[in-house]
Amino acid sequence: MSATDTAALEAKALAKTWFYPFPLPSGVTTPTYDGGALDLIHTTRTQMLDAALDAHFGGEFGGRSAVDMACHQGWFSMHLARRGFDKVLGVDARDEHVADASLIRDAMGLSNWSLLQSDIHDLDPASIGQHDLVLCFGLIYHLENPVGALRMARAMCKDLCLVETQVVPGQTGWVDYGSYRFVRPLKGSFGIIDETGETHGPEASTTGICLVPSVEALVWIMQRIGFSRVEVLPVPEDGYEQLVHHKRVMVAGWV
Ligand SMILES: C[S@@+](CC[C@H](N)C(=O)[O-])C[C@H]1O[C@@H](n2cnc3c(N)ncnc32)[C@H](O)[C@@H]1O
Repeated sequence: MSATDTAALEAKALAKTWFYPFPLPSGVTTPTYDGGALDLIHTTRTQMLDAALDAHFGGEFGGRSAVDMACHQGWFSMHLARRGFDKVLGVDARDEHVADASLIRDAMGLSNWSLLQSDIHDLDPASIGQHDLVLCFGLIYHLENPVGALRMARAMCKDLCLVETQVVPGQTGWVDYGSYRFVRPLKGSFGIIDETGETHGPEASTTGICLVPSVEALVWIMQRIGFSRVEVLPVPEDGYEQLVHHKRVMVAGWV
């Protein structure tokens, strides 16, 4: 692409406000919502992602591929493409995010990054294939079928899956399951959050009925759907408050 074309794409990107502070080739950064108030959540998650990638892949990404579920404008897809994954596929339900991510991809000349508009529940794992890394960040707490989304993540994963999500406080205890003779322990819990009035929002649920897991629920479900090892990842001390204070978590599942 010529320098003039790149400059035109950058000018288009700089004409709007973004969810992420994308570093454009000229050195300018895209302006973000709320004057940058949300930038730290992205920085902390990127740090945690890098720590997990370096620990697991030893910083070697050539010959590897990744899927970024609910990629939004593509921050994490961009990061993986720049770190050297051979192929990165970003998927999001919203057309406008796919268009924005495509603009960033083209402005940065990242030919190893492709994009797909789809509800994640509608993906066909047989045609998407299995990938070394699957990211599922900021998604499952916006869904009415979070277990289905996690099963989709598992189906597309052949090595490492990272899930980052808001969590709710968990309940523990015992349930008389039909009768006092069939007592079962709770394995975790879900909180219901109403986003039905916000489905137009760029970061929101598409259906409005949101089931938010407790961390115990998320870990237990990931173990049950076929990850052999599941761990909650450490958070940098100076990280985004929600991650530091256990309101959000990043969990790794190894196939
Ligand atoms: C809070 S944003 C998180 C974006 C990004 N993964 C991150 O962590 O920064 C939620 C994203 O999920 C997308 N989304 C919501 N429901 C979806 C669905 N059923 N299938 C695919 N994408 C969905 C939204 O369009 C939005 O981009």
